[in-house]
Amino acid sequence: MSKIFKPNKDMFDNPVFRDMDDYNKLVKKFDDNYEGTWGELAEKNITWHKPFTNTLDETNTPFNRWFKDGKMSVAYECVDRHLENSGDNVAILFEADDGTNIKLTYNELAKNVNKTANLFVNEYGIKKSDRVVIYMPMILEAIYTMLACAKIGAIHSVVFGGFSSQALKDRIIDAKAKLIVTADGAYRKGKPYMLKPAVDDATKDGCDSVQNICVVKRNFEPIQKNKKDSFYHELIEKQSDEFETVWFDSEDPLFLLYTSGSTGQPKGVQHNMAGYILWAKLTMQWVFDNKPDDIFWCTADIGWITGHSYIVYGPLANGTTTVVFEGVPTYPDAGRCWKMVQQHKINQFYTAPTAIRMLHKTGENEPSKYDLSSLRVLGTVGEPIDPPAWKWYYEAIGNSKCSIVDTWWQTETGGHMVSPIASCTPIKPACATLPLPGIYAKIIETNGEPTPINEKGYLCITKPWPSQIRTIWGDDDRFVKAYFGDCVYDGKPVYFSGDGAMIDENGYITITGRTDDVINVSGHRIGTAEIEASIKENDMVASSAVVGKPHEIKGEGIFGFIVLKNSDTISKDDLKLELNKILKADIGAIALLDDIIVVPDLPKTRSGKIMRRILRSIVKGEPITQDTSTLEDPNIVGEIEVLYKV
Ligand code: WT7
Repeated sequence: MSKIFKPNKDMFDNPVFRDMDDYNKLVKKFDDNYEGTWGELAEKNITWHKPFTNTLDETNTPFNRWFKDGKMSVAYECVDRHLENSGDNVAILFEADDGTNIKLTYNELAKNVNKTANLFVNEYGIKKSDRVVIYMPMILEAIYTMLACAKIGAIHSVVFGGFSSQALKDRIIDAKAKLIVTADGAYRKGKPYMLKPAVDDATKDGCDSVQNICVVKRNFEPIQKNKKDSFYHELIEKQSDEFETVWFDSEDPLFLLYTSGSTGQPKGVQHNMAGYILWAKLTMQWVFDNKPDDIFWCTADIGWITGHSYIVYGPLANGTTTVVFEGVPTYPDAGRCWKMVQQHKINQFYTAPTAIRMLHKTGENEPSKYDLSSLRVLGTVGEPIDPPAWKWYYEAIGNSKCSIVDTWWQTETGGHMVSPIASCTPIKPACATLPLPGIYAKIIETNGEPTPINEKGYLCITKPWPSQIRTIWGDDDRFVKAYFGDCVYDGKPVYFSGDGAMIDENGYITITGRTDDVINVSGHRIGTAEIEASIKENDMVASSAVVGKPHEIKGEGIFGFIVLKNSDTISKDDLKLELNKILKADIGAIALLDDIIVVPDLPKTRSGKIMRRILRSIVKGEPITQDTSTLEDPNIVGEIEVLYKV
């Protein structure tokens, strides 16, 4: 059993959870009165224009409804409610790629959000429930846009700027977006890069729903101006900086965020207003011990759920200062983050294991050059963290004093689910520890039997929670099948995360990784089906199977087993180049193959299903324990193993 690290009490002044007694008390309270406890938290933590009448309506489960009939506003919760007492507090600390920064108060944020909301209503006719696609860099206008949508009740769908024009187009069409907000580009590592050309390409044809494209000028590089384009800065000045709060129903949709599943094309995960904002706000307080006078920095991009919940919605709902960073952690050198921690006196720092591994590798001694004593809590998210990276994070960044919260959650969960609470949970390196109070995370077999201690089982959530995914946009059936089709608990279908996990004798949960056909590259989810569909576009390819292969920095890299129609025609390197060209165009640079081998065939069952698990074992160098007798051609496994080793 590895060492346990207790939280350093000196770091926490009047935390929500002083010790494990506080944690256990709240867990017990939920056990005794599940709905009542959620109801109480919602009453206290959201400004209700009209109180809700029913905490949880499960009539149509898994389409659960929380805080029914309640009227509230996410934009009010995140911005306007702070104005009376703390309007001059800094809401956003924006640091540009070149190191210049802007401190924006809640008063200023409110004005900008209101102007942007007016712009969307007056110039583009955006109404409640219209979809707005946001394809933007990490700049202030991106945040104004998200909050302006929340203010109007328009549903935003942020598409990560690293996705290709084709991926952007797929998402625009699926959401039937009316407006696209983008930028000419931005700066990365001291140089301008472009986004607008990808929007031009995506909207060339087929995006009929799009009426307007609003372009923010950030790098002022030349761009093409098309019929539907207009410029944010030209229209924003004449907008009023007032916008009367509109109150929405608890269950009105707030946003869509596309994420990869084990099959098919990416799915639009839908989150609704009250449940989502409640949990984003509470987890800020519980997990990070975040207070309004703290400076909180989450290094994610707003294109991912981490950016939604812990750059924008959670921090602002909690009235804290959130850092928005345009640049990259390695520019101008691998000390950039630590320089920023020192300069801005950052209290909580939240990042991904892949970034920690990279900064460890490329700048092991950088942290010692800076004063990092403002830090109280360090967080990780997105993938399992390995013990060496954990140790460096704990010692070199946290000076062996900060709690590390290894937060397990997903796009679908909206906020943290299994995670230490910085102020009270004794931590074990590289372990997500305990479910948060109110979250019923269980490690079970598919039939609901508890998995034996320290053995791998399925990580399921057995009770609804407020910030859970409401549906997959436009596809209720897929929602039910994708999440409630695999595991049963107490005789009822329950939410299965797609992850495997183990539980120890103290109830501590260690995440072991995806059990489905999803690859986790640098903390980003990529579906094998999407990659294989793209690979197939190459005429030489007969079939393919891709799997995640352990990678020193990225966690997992993408490895392809390719069957060619005629294997004499192309070298392996040229083939990889060709396939990566397609992947870059279809999905984006995050989906490139690290390596491939050409194989005569794939291990398939007689019914034609590819046994990816065998391929996973091969790339991990693990012995093959699966039964290969059911394969169409059992000899193929040996052949692939030999080819893999040369
Ligand atoms: C998948 C969700 C949650 C925001 C970022 C990713 C993996 C997430 C951890 C963790 C081990 C983790 C899981 C999960 N994951 N956090 N602390 N330890 N694995 O969001 O793109 O929806 O991916 O990321 O496999 O299912 P996402």
